[in-house]
Amino acid sequence: MSLDFPIEIIYEGMVRVAVPKLEAFKRGVWDYAPSRAPVFYNPLMRVCRDIAVLALQSYQMIVGRRLVVSEPLAGCGVRGIRFATEVEGVETVYINDISERAYRISQYNIELNSLAERVFASNEDANFFLSRHAAPNKRFDFIDVDPFGSPVPYMDSAIRALRDGGLLALTATDMAPLCGVYPKVALRKYGGLSLRTEYCHEIAVRLLAGCLATSAAKHNIGVKVVFSHSTDHYIRLYATISHGAKRADETLENMGYILHCFKCLHREVGKGILMQRLACPECGSTLRAAGPLWLGEIADGEFCTLMEESLKSLKHIGGEAARVVSLVKGEAGAPATYYVIDKVCERIGAPTPPLKDVIESIVGMGFRAVRTHFHGKGIKSDAPASIVIKAVKNAAGLQ
Ligand SMILES: C[S@@+](CC[C@H](N)C(=O)[O-])C[C@H]1O[C@@H](n2cnc3c(N)ncnc32)[C@H](O)[C@@H]1O
Ligand SMILES: [Zn+2]
Repeated sequence: MSLDFPIEIIYEGMVRVAVPKLEAFKRGVWDYAPSRAPVFYNPLMRVCRDIAVLALQSYQMIVGRRLVVSEPLAGCGVRGIRFATEVEGVETVYINDISERAYRISQYNIELNSLAERVFASNEDANFFLSRHAAPNKRFDFIDVDPFGSPVPYMDSAIRALRDGGLLALTATDMAPLCGVYPKVALRKYGGLSLRTEYCHEIAVRLLAGCLATSAAKHNIGVKVVFSHSTDHYIRLYATISHGAKRADETLENMGYILHCFKCLHREVGKGILMQRLACPECGSTLRAAGPLWLGEIADGEFCTLMEESLKSLKHIGGEAARVVSLVKGEAGAPATYYVIDKVCERIGAPTPPLKDVIESIVGMGFRAVRTHFHGKGIKSDAPASIVIKAVKNAAGLQ
């Protein structure tokens, strides 16, 4: 293979791949090199790829047939090569990247893993690549859209290139717009306003899901979110699609707003598009809105159970991916938004009590309360803000 940059062979999951030698692109000890390397490989995204393997295996167990999979923005190809190697039931994988160097290194990696008969690389624009697969007999069972920044520019083509019932995975790394630093950019790109609350990462997931739902609806396609997760610098969404205007209409019933009171931490959700009341029912302050966004489920309990079961056969995946799946499973069906107890303590001037004591106190007052993967000190609960504040005070020994 002729490559004009230094490479190294790394091991990830059950595969080995050639990647740019990151050390060669570092400008100093603290420098973060993946974005400067000529082909993209980020070792920190391993958990993201581990979870993708689990999700694809779970999806395969549900549909029970051999799958045709694609990764339209593949970098060095590690993700697609892992799908082909690790997920039972994957027949073929199409990996594509606009960069010629990425294409060349992917081809090398396909050979390195003896996958030339099942994994095919191409070198074109992702939208062009996906459009070539939009005809009914050419569509994919699973598409993993993993770009730099926002996946929105590829959403329409991905929806069109996915078969009825197929699974779509989306990564978004443009967290500043999605988390409320630039709400107008979120409105422009995702069709909904973001809001800088302590649960802004969940709002980010719901904005992405809302954007997918409205984009799919334009094609008379409905969506069901089966899994989602967030880390510091990216969010991921997994959703199945189903064709039909009725499905699209049903999907849109999940759209609405989250209303937040910055004074007393009250929050509420409002389905539909038009907002009537904007005053906080607890303290009278003006409520601020995020949305329109997705108010439906952002994880499916049964899908999470299958992901946990997949862990038994995919023994090399564990640790962080297993932890995320278990937490997301625990919060399936929980209400939108979460409370961050540090934030509550800051307001009431209390020391931060143990999370489990706060949860016990809320549950003791007759409400549901669970931990969330979104934040280490976060609690999802159907209790109003006043009860959560009371529970934090109880747990902190203030009353
Ligand atoms: C975040 S990286 C992909 C990482 C990869 N999915 C992984 O798991 O390692 C994004 C990739 O998108 C490619 N890219 C950017 N614009 C593109 C486009 N319009 N069409 C296809 N690929 C594109 C870049 O060359 C880069 O390799
Ligand atoms: Zn209020």
